[in-house]
Amino acid sequence: MKTVLITGATSGIGEAFAQIFAKNGISLFLVSRDIQKLESVSKSIAKISDVPIQTFAIDLSEGDSANKVFHFAVEKGIQIDYLVNNAGIGDYGEFQYMDEQKIATLLELNVVTLTKLTRLFLEKMVQKDFGRILNVASTAAFQPGPLMAVYFASKAYVLHFSLAVAKELEKTNVTLTTLCPGPTHSNFAHTASIQKLKMFSDKNLPSALEVAEFGFSAMMSGKKLAIHGFMNRMKAFFIKFIPLDLILSEISKMLEKA
Ligand SMILES: NC(=O)c1ccc[n+]([C@@H]2O[C@H](COP(=O)([O-])OP(=O)(O)OC[C@H]3O[C@@H](n4cnc5c(N)ncnc54)[C@H](OP(=O)(O)O)[C@@H]3O)[C@@H](O)[C@H]2O)c1
Repeated sequence: MKTVLITGATSGIGEAFAQIFAKNGISLFLVSRDIQKLESVSKSIAKISDVPIQTFAIDLSEGDSANKVFHFAVEKGIQIDYLVNNAGIGDYGEFQYMDEQKIATLLELNVVTLTKLTRLFLEKMVQKDFGRILNVASTAAFQPGPLMAVYFASKAYVLHFSLAVAKELEKTNVTLTTLCPGPTHSNFAHTASIQKLKMFSDKNLPSALEVAEFGFSAMMSGKKLAIHGFMNRMKAFFIKFIPLDLILSEISKMLEKA
């Protein structure tokens, strides 16, 4: 039986990924901070699938967390065939007033740990010539985001890093997919204090399950890039032709709270 490691599996897109992998008969190794939430997600998945579930509670914004996850998997004899680097948080506010610790936490979680986990688990995948990795970026990756400067830049890193590695992997049977969701129904907006932004009050916001299903299918078919939603794909394409000053002022207006 194959196994997937999913980070940030206790809510939103990560939890939806866990349900989808379980329904497809793939055993789960679920990682996030809160042990009680991990247990409750495991219990609800056990109702829809009998795949083995292993959990590990750890703060992935801590410097050595990626190594701890890797060594936990090695000690338990868990071989990772699929890796979903999903855990991530947002920020909001003018950069000059942002809390330094919050910036460091965001960068460690969204950028550093994602990179380290990709590196650690990729090596074995390449050795056995099979593996699928999915890194969750965002439509925020395609332009700078005044008022969410660090978050947007962190997702631009995830996009460019992942696409470059995906290209390097072309000669192997290992693939790396970058998933770019647009605004999606989950706890993300609340955690980032942006739930009042117009884009999150849209009644037609896609569900986390819809986004995860889209990502799962792209990952399984080894696509390099998966942008969720037709309009998001259009925007990502046409933004290359728009003057930078116009992009900056439009995004700035979009991110201003009413
Ligand atoms: N929702 C959106 O609109 C949207 C749009 C584009 C991209 N994304 C991206 O999608 C990914 C998933 O977000 P979501 O929307 O599903 O958000 P969510 O509902 O807030 O879920 C975030 C998950 O990450 C975990 N997490 C947060 N901080 C962590 C830490 N320090 N260490 C370990 N785990 C941590 C949380 O679990 P614990 O609290 O239990 O640790 C939770 O399981 C993120 O990378 C986000 O940037 C979201």
